[in-house]
Amino acid sequence: MYSRILTGSIMGIDAETVTVETDISSGLPSMTIVGLPDTSVREAKERIRSALRNAGYQFPSKRITVNLSPADSKKEGTHFDLPIAVGVMVASGEISAGEAAQYAFFGELSLDGKVNAVQGAIALAIGLRNKGVRKLILPAGNRHEVSILTDMEIYPVAHISDVEAHLSGMNPLMPFRGRPRKSSREVCESGEDFVDVAGQEGVKRALQVAAAAAHNILMVGPPGAGKTMMARRLPGILPTMTYEECLEVTRIYSLAGQLPAEGGLITQRPFRAPHHTISPTALAGGGSKPRPGEVPLAHFGVLFLDEFPEFCRKALEVLRQPLEDEKITIARASATVTYPAKIMLVAAMNPCPCGNLGHSTRKCTCSEYQVIQYRSKISGPLADRIDIHIEIFPVPYEELIDSAGRNIKKGNSEQMRNAVEIARSVQIDRYRRERISYNSQLTPPLIKKYCPLDRESEQLLKMAFETYSLTARSGLKIIKLARTIADLEQEENISAVHVAEAISYNRFYTANRGGKANG
Ligand SMILES: Nc1ncnc2c1ncn2[C@@H]1O[C@H](COP(=O)(O)OP(=O)(O)O)[C@@H](O)[C@H]1O
Ligand SMILES: [Mg+2]
Ligand SMILES: [Zn+2]
Repeated sequence: MYSRILTGSIMGIDAETVTVETDISSGLPSMTIVGLPDTSVREAKERIRSALRNAGYQFPSKRITVNLSPADSKKEGTHFDLPIAVGVMVASGEISAGEAAQYAFFGELSLDGKVNAVQGAIALAIGLRNKGVRKLILPAGNRHEVSILTDMEIYPVAHISDVEAHLSGMNPLMPFRGRPRKSSREVCESGEDFVDVAGQEGVKRALQVAAAAAHNILMVGPPGAGKTMMARRLPGILPTMTYEECLEVTRIYSLAGQLPAEGGLITQRPFRAPHHTISPTALAGGGSKPRPGEVPLAHFGVLFLDEFPEFCRKALEVLRQPLEDEKITIARASATVTYPAKIMLVAAMNPCPCGNLGHSTRKCTCSEYQVIQYRSKISGPLADRIDIHIEIFPVPYEELIDSAGRNIKKGNSEQMRNAVEIARSVQIDRYRRERISYNSQLTPPLIKKYCPLDRESEQLLKMAFETYSLTARSGLKIIKLARTIADLEQEENISAVHVAEAISYNRFYTANRGGKANG
């Protein structure tokens, strides 16, 4: 007596289909699970035996062999309980094989036969959907989370007997339909808005330029200047996520166990702001049961690192791969896991250890050496990946109260986002035949191809090179930024004004690299 039941196994954020093959033969009563099960899967035996017996079914007193195929990839998690139990029931004739073959199954069993919710349900369901599965039997506790998949039939079960009653036709279940969700636009508008930020037009502009092509940005300014306030408003001016992007983000949150219990699709771009004491593992992800860390959790959104120079060297090292390859690979004892990580890095720091350097009224107490030490922590490859460096000064108190009422319609997030959306679509269109989508991804050969400079722009750039002793790297950054600024202005050609603005976003870091100077 033999049966085949379909389920899945998580690989990174993806899932592969797994067939549970069950064979029952005469021999000493035993149950063996093969096909690289980890401890949690091997323990399934005990749960399945008790669950079936306590639910009033037979547990065959025979030799039971279960193979999880393909047999050469590791299987982790308790969600194999339900498909294995169903496999035993089909092989022993309690359930019809033909009925069971129409579904995929996952779920954890209690000893009394209850089906418990599992972590990563949405990742598993999306993976199975992408492999062509259309009907899914899963724990009732995961139903809301998975109901966002409108092109699948979801059958939630609370108990193993519900499965049997459904498949035998005794008590068929209706496919579950979730409540319709809020659109992303509504969610976006309920968030924090740039209209609350008084003054700071230059900073808002820089953030809009950053948003227009996902350029990474470094904000330098004293405490209270509004760095955190403005960074938090950045996701609200990024383009609305597509449905597939929403699904991908939702999958990552599901795997991290960070979806709210009522589930739902994540439609808002993530904003993650880990403290500077975070460990490299918490930043990247990992653990014996791998979970995505802060970097993958910021996928398609913003990773805000406040007090940037205070992060430990190893943590900053973690950022290099995602900034270069838009993904993060975690090496584990058993295998490696890769998570997508298309992030916009927003770093913030004080201008010096005391925070007052360049302040109009307060006095900086730091030595030149201390300032150099402080800034040198973010030099090199990391700084090269940050296209925009800007300085922020606090808005005077009078301006804060003054503009509270008057400024209301000026530069709100929706207007800013609309311009960003247009600039992004121009870029997507331009790079249709390339392997990139945005200006921030331009490589030197592509810069040559898509960012020609006129004579005036060339001359301006040359002057900047001499004045600020720019590196070749900074030169390329300036051209990329000029391209983005032109796109934001909906101009086809880069001109000197665009280059001039782009230079202003690179002056700070380079000009101050060598010593203590005002920006
Ligand atoms: N331009 C501004 N408009 C309105 N409020 C501001 C502005 N700048 C600062 N604030 C107020 O000051 C507080 C501190 O700003 P914050 O963003 O935490 O500064 P930073 O992160 O640079 O130390 C904010 O919560 C906000 O209430
Ligand atoms: Mg802050
Ligand atoms: Zn100082």
